[in-house]
Amino acid sequence: MTNDTSALLSAESLAGAAYIVAALLFIFSLAGLSKHETARSGVAYGIAGMSIALLSTAWLALQNAFTNSQAALGIALLLSAVTIGGTIGIRRARVVQMTGMPELIALLHSFVGLAAVLVAWNGHLEDPSLPGALKDIHHAEVFIGVFIGAVTFTGSIIAYLKLSARIQSKPLVLPGKNFLNLGALSTFVGLTVWYVLDPQLWMLVTVTAVALALGWHLVASIGGGDMPVVVSMLNSYSGWAAAAAGFLLNNDLLIVTGALVGSSGAYLSYIMCKAMNRSFISVIAGGFGITASAFKADLNLGEHREISTEDTAELLRNASSVVITPGYGMAVAQAQHHVADLTRKLRERDVDVRFGIHPVAGRLPGHMNVLLAEAKVPYDIVLEMDEINDELSETEVVLVIGANDTVNPAAAEDPGSPLAGMPVLRVWEAGNVVIFKRSMASGYAGVPNPLFFRDNSQMLFGDAKERMEEILQRI
Ligand code: TAP
Repeated sequence: MTNDTSALLSAESLAGAAYIVAALLFIFSLAGLSKHETARSGVAYGIAGMSIALLSTAWLALQNAFTNSQAALGIALLLSAVTIGGTIGIRRARVVQMTGMPELIALLHSFVGLAAVLVAWNGHLEDPSLPGALKDIHHAEVFIGVFIGAVTFTGSIIAYLKLSARIQSKPLVLPGKNFLNLGALSTFVGLTVWYVLDPQLWMLVTVTAVALALGWHLVASIGGGDMPVVVSMLNSYSGWAAAAAGFLLNNDLLIVTGALVGSSGAYLSYIMCKAMNRSFISVIAGGFGITASAFKADLNLGEHREISTEDTAELLRNASSVVITPGYGMAVAQAQHHVADLTRKLRERDVDVRFGIHPVAGRLPGHMNVLLAEAKVPYDIVLEMDEINDELSETEVVLVIGANDTVNPAAAEDPGSPLAGMPVLRVWEAGNVVIFKRSMASGYAGVPNPLFFRDNSQMLFGDAKERMEEILQRI
């Protein structure tokens, strides 16, 4: 054994040990992220795990480079990829607003998908000489990697365009859409078998095109209201795409990490589907079973009433129970600190103040909980939708702060509504409802809200933070 080869072997076993430590840190990270109180340490474990993974992979790549004749080229490529990617990543992460996180995450998923496609294509072009069954397995990995990666790539780009409102969030309903999806899946299965038996370039080109079209169609067919589940599903797909790339690159850590992301993303999507009363299969199959709705968006819902900040303050001063239901608008206005101040002032006056949090309020899972925790609202008064819903009818005043779809009565009462069947906060059952928003515009799903026209509802127009400031001065 030459000195170079033994150095490489010991580098590989050291990297193997580092990968085990990194994988354990990722598992601790997931465990930490499951609770508010431990979320920060969960993030710290994740950063530590990723740093170890990156450093050991880079070090292994450098050792590899030194043992072959193209050392300089290998090192130059590695350093420039890390520098360019790292610079863009740090810049984007520094400027992104909290409200822009979901679309940034969708965009990042698309890179994972694209990377998996490129790795798999490379697996075809540099077909390694492997014996019998191992060669077949390699070919299956190439085909599956291209398929999952390409679906993730275009699906994530469409999700990014919808979430950033660059395209409409309405579901696309093509004639025979379920047959189109099934046709694409059958083509993939049939071609996989053929490719394993007799790999040819045209098959890889075909499956790449079919998977790119399928990813686009699956996500384009999902309406705005179901987008949270789609983003979490794409997160899962990106994990499986990374795992597929891990098999091709013979990288155990990538396989373990991809499987962790894939399975936790799938489980999160399942929980969100249950919370939104949506069929999991229907959502992952691109709205399978969903037909064009008979819903009319321009219904005449009547007259709305307005309220001033003086009268809202008066209402709150005389109330004994108040429930606050925040939504995306609170995040846009960055009103969480003022909301926390109001909560403190009201509690000092012995008013029973609680929060009702819808599972998909805002634009990412746990969005409202994060903002309220940042503003130091005590955890014990922040309740989930199911915990607060039955108590809303006994509540004197509900403040709806920049929430819309999550408090829309049409979801509970109108079977033709695109939101039908999704559980919502039943704020309309309270004595008085004050809705903070800037206009009569619809929410994310583009569905008009009859809540604004109820007899016990009053609109407080304007930016939620500014209106809160005025109320705080009057309490
Ligand atoms: P939305 O239905 O998105 O409505 C937010 C409301 O906030 C808007 O109607 C807007 O009305 C108001 N608003 C915006 N800026 C404001 C400001 N500066 N001050 C006061 N109000 C402001 O909110 P929601 O009830 O939280 O529902 C979330 C929606 O997003 C659901 O449809 C959900 O499915 C979807 N979604 C959720 C997620 C996750 S995981 N949470 C991810 C993607 C999508 P004006 O423009 O009139 O002010």
